[in-house]
Amino acid sequence: MTTQPADADLKARHRAMWASGDYPSMVETFLLPLGPRLVEACGIGPGQRVLDVAAGTGNASIPAAERGAEVVASDLTPELFDAGRARAAAAGVELEWVQADAENLPFEDGSFDVVMSSIGAMFAPNHRRVADELVRVCRPGGTIGLLSWTPEGMIGALFRLMGPFAPPPPPGAQPPPLWGSETHLDELFGDRVAWRAHEREMLEITAFHEARDYGEHFKQRYGPTIATHANARKEGREAEFEEALDRFCDEWNRGGDGPARFEKEYLLSVGTRR
Ligand SMILES: C[S@@+](CC[C@H](N)C(=O)[O-])C[C@H]1O[C@@H](n2cnc3c(N)ncnc32)[C@H](O)[C@@H]1O
Repeated sequence: MTTQPADADLKARHRAMWASGDYPSMVETFLLPLGPRLVEACGIGPGQRVLDVAAGTGNASIPAAERGAEVVASDLTPELFDAGRARAAAAGVELEWVQADAENLPFEDGSFDVVMSSIGAMFAPNHRRVADELVRVCRPGGTIGLLSWTPEGMIGALFRLMGPFAPPPPPGAQPPPLWGSETHLDELFGDRVAWRAHEREMLEITAFHEARDYGEHFKQRYGPTIATHANARKEGREAEFEEALDRFCDEWNRGGDGPARFEKEYLLSVGTRR
């Protein structure tokens, strides 16, 4: 598959977006449970060859390597790899870090026993191309595992809130949280994957005392929110965006009168590549 100049330009902008802010600190603050959960659901064990797509700082790759798998952590944004390498060193594991676009993976057909992605592949704009690539690089009989925010959950709602303030999406791009819909996965993968499980689960977040601290955290550290905030500022709608984000945090806070507590729904899907 060749990369067109317009696509290369789009991916360079996406890379810069994910390198902005401080995604590694978000993982450490509240996202750490997701990687081991996906690895456990995929049943990863010693000697398996595993590809983590859109691996970021290795939230799923590192626990897979800790189970004795041979792991390739791939991501569009190599700026995240240093934090991942430091985490891997602290965990005493070695893995391979490869810059790769999920829509155009630089790996041979059928070269992995497990192909997985934790809240990662969902962020590439062309869902069909990503699904085709995940299937292509997984061996027949191998496992495909996906952990994705759902459209109905808190991050699905955040993307709906940010949409009207964000830069226009590229033509044909589909919203990331669609990957958290069982129907959408069926449409993307068809009969190429026999799903063994689709589980809807919650990530509980108690790291913030005040509900609105959560919104501040996103404005300072999360690439998509930083890009949306900058676009709102450019359009003279910064205050409107900030108020909407504050209201969103209040609305989703389940902590009552105590410290803030949020629940973020994700879909965990594991299947066999036919
Ligand atoms: C929310 S982070 C998830 C990272 C990691 N899997 C985790 O669980 O913490 C989304 C990741 O998707 C990556 N990403 C976005 N678009 C991509 C693409 N087209 N190809 C590969 N990775 C991409 C970003 O660089 C970022 O690391």
